[in-house]
Amino acid sequence: MIPVYPFSAATQPYPRQQWYIAGWSSEITSSPLRRRLLGQDILLLRTSGGDVRALKALCPHRQMPLCAEHQDGERLICPYHGAVFETSGQCVSLPFQKHIPKALDLKSFPVVEQNPFVWIWADLETPADMSRLPDTTSLFSHDTEKLLFGTGTCHVEARSQVVLENLFDQSHISFTHPASLGIRSCEDGPAKACSVLEEPTRLCFHHPLKVFPTPDAMIAFFPKIGSTMGIRSRAELFGVSLVVAAESEIVSCDEKGHVQDSMGQLAFLHGITPETDTTTHYHFAILRDFATGSEDISEQYASRNREVIAEDVRVLNAIEPCLDQIRACDEPNFMTDAEAVHVRRRIERLILEEEHLRTSSAG
Ligand code: FES
Ligand SMILES: [Fe+2]
Repeated sequence: MIPVYPFSAATQPYPRQQWYIAGWSSEITSSPLRRRLLGQDILLLRTSGGDVRALKALCPHRQMPLCAEHQDGERLICPYHGAVFETSGQCVSLPFQKHIPKALDLKSFPVVEQNPFVWIWADLETPADMSRLPDTTSLFSHDTEKLLFGTGTCHVEARSQVVLENLFDQSHISFTHPASLGIRSCEDGPAKACSVLEEPTRLCFHHPLKVFPTPDAMIAFFPKIGSTMGIRSRAELFGVSLVVAAESEIVSCDEKGHVQDSMGQLAFLHGITPETDTTTHYHFAILRDFATGSEDISEQYASRNREVIAEDVRVLNAIEPCLDQIRACDEPNFMTDAEAVHVRRRIERLILEEEHLRTSSAG
C-alpha cells in the first residue's frame, strides 16, 4: 500500500478512532444540520431535552438523504417511502408493515458537548474511547472572565493534515500573510520551542519569552503594563482536532526583562475536522480576557483573523490538487518545519496504531 501524503508509512489520511469537532454548540438546534464528517453524512440535532445527537443522515432502506425539511415535530420522516425515525435514530413506524427490522434504525454516533464545541466519535467500528477526548477546560477556566468571539466555520479544499501542519508553521507568515500580519524581520522570525509537553491528548510547544518596549497601543489596553512588556506564547494541539495557535500571555517586565505580572491572555482556536479524505471543515474563534466589553476590539481581531484564515485557505487549496504527484519522503524540510513535522509524526503514529490493530485482528 502507498503511504498517503504527507505521511511516510500511514495509508489512511487521518486517524479515525478519535474525537473530532463536529461543530459549535450554538449551531446545533432542534432543526437538524447535515454535515459530512470523516466521509459520512451525519445529522446533528438537539432534542427537546437539550441533548445533542448525531445520526447517520441516510435512510437505511434505500439511502435517501435526510435533512431538516423532513422533520415533523421531533421525528424525521423519510420522503422516499415514509419510514419514521425518533431523535434516538430508532425507526418507529413504517407505512405498510407492522414489523420494523432493527436494521432500519439510523446509526447513532457518540457525541460529547463541551461548550463551545460538540465532539463526535465518527468511527462506529470501535467503541468510543473517552480517554481520547481532550480536556479543554484549561482554555476556558481562569481567574478572569474570558470572551469567546469571532466564531465561524469555513471549508478547505485540502486534506486535514496539511491544514493542521499549517497552524504549526511560523515561517510562512511573512509570505502568506504580508497584508494581514505584516512582514517580519529575520530576528522576529520563528523561534524554536523552548520546551515541548507531550501528553496522550495534548501536545504543547512553549516559545521563548519575547521582551520589547511597550507600544502605545498596548498601554491603552493595559494601563499598568509599564514601559517594558513581554509575550509568552505557545502552540497546542488538543486531541487531533483542536489547535490553539498563537496562544499568548501578555506580561509586564522590569528593565532587565524579568517578568513581573500577567496582564492578559489571547488565544486563536482552530477546529480542524476532515470532511472527506481531501477536504476539511475549519472552525475558528478567538478567546481573550482583557477589554472584554469592547466590541471594537473584538471586530478588529475577528476581521483580521478572517483575513488571515482566507489567506491560508487560498494556499492550502492551491496545494491539494498537486499532492498526488509526490511522495512526502522526497520533500525537503526547513529547520523551521520542526513543529509541523512533530505534529505529523504524532498523527502518523496514531494512524499506524489503528492500521496495526486492524491487520492484527484481521489476521
Ligand atoms: S429510502 Fe427511506 S423509507 Fe425507503
Ligand atoms: Fe497562516
